[in-house]
Amino acid sequence: MKTIGVLTSGGDAPGMNAAIRAVVRSGCENGFRVMGIRRGYNGLMYGDMYEMNLRSVSNIINRGGTILYSARSPEFKTEEGMQKAINVCKEVDMQGIVVIGGDGSFRGARDLSLRGVPCVGIPGTIDNDIACCDYTIGYDTAMNTVMEMVDRLRDTSESHDRCSVVEVMGRKAGYIALNAGIACGATTILIPEVPFDFERDVIERMRRTQKAGKRHFIIIVAEGVGGVQEMAERIQRETGVESRATILGHVQRGGSPTVRDRVAGSQMGYRAVELLKEGTGNRVVAMQKDQIVDFDIFEALNMKKSIDLDLYRVAHEISI
Ligand code: ADP
Ligand code: F6P
Repeated sequence: MKTIGVLTSGGDAPGMNAAIRAVVRSGCENGFRVMGIRRGYNGLMYGDMYEMNLRSVSNIINRGGTILYSARSPEFKTEEGMQKAINVCKEVDMQGIVVIGGDGSFRGARDLSLRGVPCVGIPGTIDNDIACCDYTIGYDTAMNTVMEMVDRLRDTSESHDRCSVVEVMGRKAGYIALNAGIACGATTILIPEVPFDFERDVIERMRRTQKAGKRHFIIIVAEGVGGVQEMAERIQRETGVESRATILGHVQRGGSPTVRDRVAGSQMGYRAVELLKEGTGNRVVAMQKDQIVDFDIFEALNMKKSIDLDLYRVAHEISI
């Protein structure tokens, strides 16, 4: 019986459990022995893994986080760390690993593949910042969480005629900010991909809408832009509108996954096992135009994607 492993690595994302479930279920059904590797590459280096069966993944599709736990593992990036992982793979006769994570995790998967352990990556990150994919597992849930939280902020901002300046996650990318900003009716959305002039795009815009009768404001700022506290102070100083800064933080990473994340996780997990069954490693499973596709990891890591500037323009036009 062939042994394959599954691990989650980097920042966790809602829907990772759906992907694990799909890998384990289709792995077992296809006659693989499936090992659940705990805490990403740390578990691989130290042999922290256990055999999973059809029932090991019962009652997890609705749960946020990852039942395999996740970690960032600097040691794995060293030659010694990699060697430890390869030795463990030899000991357990690991013939393939499904790596659920972001770009960093895929670099690790690429290095393992190069050393003879075929890996298949599944994009799991709330940031949606993986170039080969239109969509990453966890993104939809995170956007919905942001929407819900900002709706709450809107209630209190409206009651007090205030401005809420809200930082949302996304690392260096503005996908969550742009989409959640539209969904929350933000007056201004600041993302790292689009240069802005604070005076023109925030202060002047607020003044204009104030003249048109607007009394409360939502400004969404991607973490890649940052500085929400200073922004709130400046807004209050220059417009006279009492302002508060909120950093939504890790609340965006938790919670029960949405339908979209559960379905995408399931499809991608299933496809990853198909690839290992065909004997194909060094691939990344991706979603493009709602279709499940796959790419060579090297190719995937060299791809570029850009934010939808038309959508940004729409947001700008209709939020005044
Ligand atoms: P993500 O996968 O979400 O992008 P990280 O960038 O933190 O998250 O990467 C997760 C883990 O993947 C790292 O802790 C490390 O163990 C491994 N990794 C990251 N970059 C590399 C690299 N260049 N080479 C090998 N392994 C890497
Ligand atoms: O990649 C997911 C993410 O939540 C980013 O949006 C954020 O920049 C980062 O991880 C936070 O990392 P940590 O959980 O290590 O604080």
